[in-house]
Amino acid sequence: MTKQSASNTVLLIGASRGLGHAMACEYLQRGWRVIATGRAQSTDSLARLALQHPDALRVETVDITVPDEIAALRARLEGEVIDLLFVNAGVTNADEETTATVSTEEFVRVMVTNALSPLRVVAAFEALVPASGTIGVMSSGQGSLANNTNGAHDVYRGSKAALNMYMRSFAARHADDPRTLLLMAPGWVQTDMGGPGARLTIADSIPNLMDTITAQSGTPGLQYLDYLGRTVPW
Ligand SMILES: NC(=O)c1ccc[n+]([C@@H]2O[C@H](COP(=O)([O-])OP(=O)(O)OC[C@H]3O[C@@H](n4cnc5c(N)ncnc54)[C@H](OP(=O)(O)O)[C@@H]3O)[C@@H](O)[C@H]2O)c1
Repeated sequence: MTKQSASNTVLLIGASRGLGHAMACEYLQRGWRVIATGRAQSTDSLARLALQHPDALRVETVDITVPDEIAALRARLEGEVIDLLFVNAGVTNADEETTATVSTEEFVRVMVTNALSPLRVVAAFEALVPASGTIGVMSSGQGSLANNTNGAHDVYRGSKAALNMYMRSFAARHADDPRTLLLMAPGWVQTDMGGPGARLTIADSIPNLMDTITAQSGTPGLQYLDYLGRTVPW
């Protein structure tokens, strides 16, 4: 399952590096039209990719924590049909920081970026996604309450758990919606965020994660899945 119709369009939010950039590269390989976003200061990697795919890749900018930037991108994309809206953008905080030690400012930065802003993006762009389409957000296995047995990275965990809750609320508010809704856990992957000691390479995770997204196409409602298509306990 590697080739898709050239008519499929994906809007990838947060594709300047790491997992999002790998998804942009892989969707282009699979023949999709890709609209990929960086922040204003981080579009160089996408601009280089666009030189290789001038017709298939459109590079856009948005900082998801700035509502005016979301609104401006939404206006620029008016009239697009987005088969897959995928919000990948996310941040973490220092490993050693817990809810006991984190500053309020840092806590707010992680929560606003990982939990509030993805849902603002979903709310802004969902009207461009047809009934056959998919709306996905990059969560994490660390967003699972059930699997939290060691308490590490608790600020980040809390932000992804909140993200999961807000997607469940979105799904509940759209109970008759025929579209596929996904929270994805990519595994622990070697990126700037995951670090060099992570268990998986991008090549281990991203093609499988994308196959999992494709396999769910046409299945309505919300699922929380890992990169191999296994359900993650909430
Ligand atoms: N790597 C892992 O092991 C792992 C595991 C589970 C879940 N995840 C999740 O997977 C996603 C991608 O992670 P990654 O490992 O690829 O991280 P990364 O290498 O740090 O890349 C993060 C991406 O998010 C973008 N981003 C951050 N804040 C943003 C904002 N306010 N507005 C727009 N874009 C923003 C970054 O853009 P800039 O270049 O502009 O900063 C970058 O493209 C995140 O949601 C992360 O939580 C990762």
